Amino acid sequence: MEKEKLLEVKDLKTYFLLRDETVKAVDGVSFDVYEGETFGLVGESGCGKSQTCRSILKLLKRPGEIVGGEILYKGQDIVKMDKNEIRNIRGKEISIIFQEPMTSLNPVLKIKTQMFEAFHDSNMSKQEKLEKAIELLKLVGIPSPETRIEEYTHQFSGGMRQRAMIACALGARPKLLLADEPTTALDVTIQDQILKLINSLKDELKMSVILVTHDLGVVAQMCDRVAVMYAGIIVEMTDTVTLFSKPRHPYTYALMGSLPDQSKRGSRLEPITGAPPNLANLPAGCPFAPRCRYAEEICTKERPDIFEIDPGHFTRCHFPEKVRTFTGIIDVPKEEVGNNG
Ligand SMILES: Nc1ncnc2c1ncn2[C@@H]1O[C@H](COP(=O)(O)OP(=O)(O)OP(=O)(O)O)[C@@H](O)[C@H]1O
Ligand code: SF4
Ligand SMILES: [Mg+2]
Repeated sequence: MEKEKLLEVKDLKTYFLLRDETVKAVDGVSFDVYEGETFGLVGESGCGKSQTCRSILKLLKRPGEIVGGEILYKGQDIVKMDKNEIRNIRGKEISIIFQEPMTSLNPVLKIKTQMFEAFHDSNMSKQEKLEKAIELLKLVGIPSPETRIEEYTHQFSGGMRQRAMIACALGARPKLLLADEPTTALDVTIQDQILKLINSLKDELKMSVILVTHDLGVVAQMCDRVAVMYAGIIVEMTDTVTLFSKPRHPYTYALMGSLPDQSKRGSRLEPITGAPPNLANLPAGCPFAPRCRYAEEICTKERPDIFEIDPGHFTRCHFPEKVRTFTGIIDVPKEEVGNNG
C-alpha cells in the first residue's frame, strides 16, 4: 500500500535579515515526510538543520523569517497559518524536541506542571492528567515517576531531562515528532536508550519522525530516508541503504570518510578539510566547490540543480558519477547496512 505524505516542504527559504546582510540559513529546501517513517536531516554544524525544524513549527527567533516556500501539513500550508491556527498544530499534531533540553523545560516549574501544559486537553480532570503524565514518564523510562513528577528540572540528570522533554513532546500523541539532535551531550549508553525509545514510541504512536543528527551512525540505525544538507540546501536525498551503499554526492562521501569508528560511536564527525561557506555571501557556483576534490571549472561558475539520478535518489552535483568512479566505492550488500526500515 502506498504511504501517504504527512508533510511536504517545498522550496522553503528561511533567512536572517540582518541590518547589513542576509544570512540564508535555509535556501530552497524541499522534502516530503511519509506517514510512519523516520526521515533524517544530516550535515555539519550551521548547515540549517535546526532552522528547517523551527520553520516547520514557526518557532523562528528574530530576525529569522520564512521568506518563501510552502510547508504543507496534511495539505494545509503552515507558512500561511496565523497564530491561532499554528497553536492547533504545535504540540498537538507536531511536537519538537530541542537540541538543548533546558531551553524548552522551565526550571521554576515542576515536571508535573509542564507535562499538564503539554496535554492541551481541557476536558481531562486533574486526576486523569496526573495518571497520564505518570504513564508517559514510565513509558520514557523514568524510575519512580509517582515521586519524580513532583520534582523540578534541575533535580533531573541530563538523560532524565531529555526523557522528560520527550514525555512532554509526546503528551499529545503527535503525528509528527521533530527530534533536533535528541541525544547530543548525552553519554553513549543513554544515547542508545533514547534512540531505542523514540523508535518504539514511533511504532506505538504510529508517528513520523524528523531526526536531526550529525552522526551517520545514528542515521544508519534510525532512518528510513535521509537528506544531506550543506550550506542551507539539500545536496543529496535518498533511502538510507542507498545513501550508504551508493552515495552520489562528494559531500556525502566526505562525511562518510569522517564517520567516527565504532570505538568512538556517538562522537561528533571529524571535520572535513576547509570550512563551510559564509551563508551571507555564498559563492556563485556550487557551495561545496572550495572543499571538493572533484571540482572543475564549471563548479565555481554554475550552481548545480538537484535532480533525480535514480528513482527516489536525488543529488545536486555536476559530476555525481565521479564519486563512484574515483573513489572506487563498491556497492555494499544491503544486509551489511544497518537500517530499521
Ligand atoms: N540569530 C541568528 N542570526 C543570524 N544567523 C543565524 C542566527 N541563528 C542561526 N543563524 C544562521 O543559520 C545557520 C543555520 O543554523 P542552524 O541552527 O539551522 O544550524 P544547524 O545545522 O542546526 O547546526 P548545529 O548542528 O550546530 O545545530 C547558521 O549557520 C547561522 O549562520
Ligand atoms: S558540483 Fe562540482 S564542486 Fe560541487 S560537489 Fe559536484 S563536483 Fe564537487
Ligand atoms: Mg542545530
